[in-house]
Amino acid sequence: MRVLSGIQPSGALHIGNYFGAIHQYLALQEENEAFYFVADFHALTSVRDAKRLREYVFNVIVDLLSLGVDPERATLFVQSDVPEVTELTWLLTSVTPMGWLEKSVSYKDKVQQGIPAEHGLFAYPVLQAADILLYDADIVPVGQDQKQHLELTRDIAERFNHIYGGGEDIFRLPKPLILDAVAVVPGLDRRKMSKSYQNTIEIFDEPAVIRKKCKKFVTDSTPVEAPKDPETCSLFGLFKLFAPEADRLEVEQRYRAGGIGYGEVKNRLAEAIISTFTPARERRADWVAHPARVAEVRAAAADRARKSARVVLDRARAACGVG
Ligand code: ADP
Ligand code: TRP
Repeated sequence: MRVLSGIQPSGALHIGNYFGAIHQYLALQEENEAFYFVADFHALTSVRDAKRLREYVFNVIVDLLSLGVDPERATLFVQSDVPEVTELTWLLTSVTPMGWLEKSVSYKDKVQQGIPAEHGLFAYPVLQAADILLYDADIVPVGQDQKQHLELTRDIAERFNHIYGGGEDIFRLPKPLILDAVAVVPGLDRRKMSKSYQNTIEIFDEPAVIRKKCKKFVTDSTPVEAPKDPETCSLFGLFKLFAPEADRLEVEQRYRAGGIGYGEVKNRLAEAIISTFTPARERRADWVAHPARVAEVRAAAADRARKSARVVLDRARAACGVG
């Protein structure tokens, strides 16, 4: 199977990204042909500073390598290194009804947050469809918030196939892979963890910063001795993602029995996060010290991705009669 996913370089990666996406990237690269990319064209709608965008792109590549994306197994490339994607976007744009894009929840959300309603933001899902269809992806691991984009991708592919296929499929229909248990990782304010809510814990935050942030996790005022429901507690929800099984069971039991305070859980959460990412933090320092090696990985991946993209783009061009 071919697996593909993209991640926007619009800031440092947080633990929502890790459980919603990267964790699955790692598992899926073992048995599949994996394509993972840094979606810098997508980030243009939010990052308006060339130097910063370049830094973010470099950081995301380095973060993914450090967390275990293996450049020998997976093609880890940068979206704009394969400019064919913009051409496919145009072909898809030409068969995408306005009404489909007007229904986009993420567009409406972003406009509501005060992000200017530019055409790039409106057409964002078409570029995402091109990302996916250009590589004949079978499976797309993402968080719950991307479900609608995946549905739209399938709709656009079906419509293109229907209009131009003459009974043949030009595009392969991709399936989203959404892990329910971690579908939405809560942030410090208990809403979905997201850069746009400034409620994140970054994967590579310094340990002192992680400790400080965990202390700020919003909890209710249930006293220490009172029993608490682990099922509905976001703090416990986050803790169980990181804690070893024995710790998870112990804390869960003490929640139900009463006698555990949120302060203790916050401290244990911080230590669990720090130790989970310690090996990756060490590998990261090594990659950062060797930028030429990072550039080599990037160039080799771009080469591979472009070869693959060309085949699909030519198929789509031929089907609709351009060139
Ligand atoms: P953000 O909301 O911080 O801007 P992105 O939209 O860049 O994050 O998300 C990148 C990937 O991480 C996507 O696949 C997304 O679904 C996933 N993701 C982001 N936040 C979370 C979260 N809180 N829980 C689960 N998955 C998430
Ligand atoms: N829109 C995705 C996000 O915000 C990033 C993305 C861009 C993506 N293109 C993609 C994800 C293709 C999966 C497949 O998280």
